[in-house]
Amino acid sequence: MELTQTVNTAGGSVILRPLCADDRNHGIFDLLAQLTQAPPLDAEVFDAILAAIDANPNHFFLVAEDKERPGKLLGTAAVLVEQKLLRAGGRVGHIEDVVVDASARGRSIGKLLVNFLIEFSKDRGCYKVILDCDEQNVAFYKRCGLEKKEVQMVRYF
Ligand SMILES: CC(C)(COP(=O)(O)OP(=O)(O)OC[C@H]1O[C@@H](n2cnc3c(N)ncnc32)[C@H](O)[C@@H]1OP(=O)(O)O)[C@@H](O)C(=O)NCCC(=O)NCCS
Repeated sequence: MELTQTVNTAGGSVILRPLCADDRNHGIFDLLAQLTQAPPLDAEVFDAILAAIDANPNHFFLVAEDKERPGKLLGTAAVLVEQKLLRAGGRVGHIEDVVVDASARGRSIGKLLVNFLIEFSKDRGCYKVILDCDEQNVAFYKRCGLEKKEVQMVRYF
């Protein structure tokens, strides 16, 4: 599949593409801060993390950029493809960190991001995608074709 795509939405065209170095200065941390604590990283640290992501074919970090305002990020989401031994060496896509800028919600950008990562996961041979979310986002993910199953457990360090 194409990893850079231009898609029309109700509020204008959006470019879906991999995260790049310039995104550090174009609001990636403002976006992520709408999801959880996400203090900006120094350029050196950011670039090292980006290089590690780019070197890993099983880690994809997607952004949605406003086509009319180059560099303006409207959303982001990521996926990690996990190789398993079960299911004859099956793979699972773990979708993470889905967030759309508050100014751009309701334009289907969230659904575009999730659907892109579902297609990416299928393309990489996954038999399913999974994610954790708040109860309040269940309806959104159902609109993306996912269903509610099981529970999440966590232990923070
Ligand atoms: C959840 C979030 C990503 C949705 O993004 P969005 O771009 O506004 O969503 P979309 O416009 O793509 O909505 C897709 C569909 O889900 C529905 N939807 C979106 N949010 C919804 C909600 N909170 N409750 C019910 N339905 C919702 C939309 O009405 C739309 O329905 P349709 O297919 O019938 O048109 C966005 O609200 C957000 O970033 N929230 C804060 C961060 C967050 O909670 N992220 C999820 C972490 S698990």
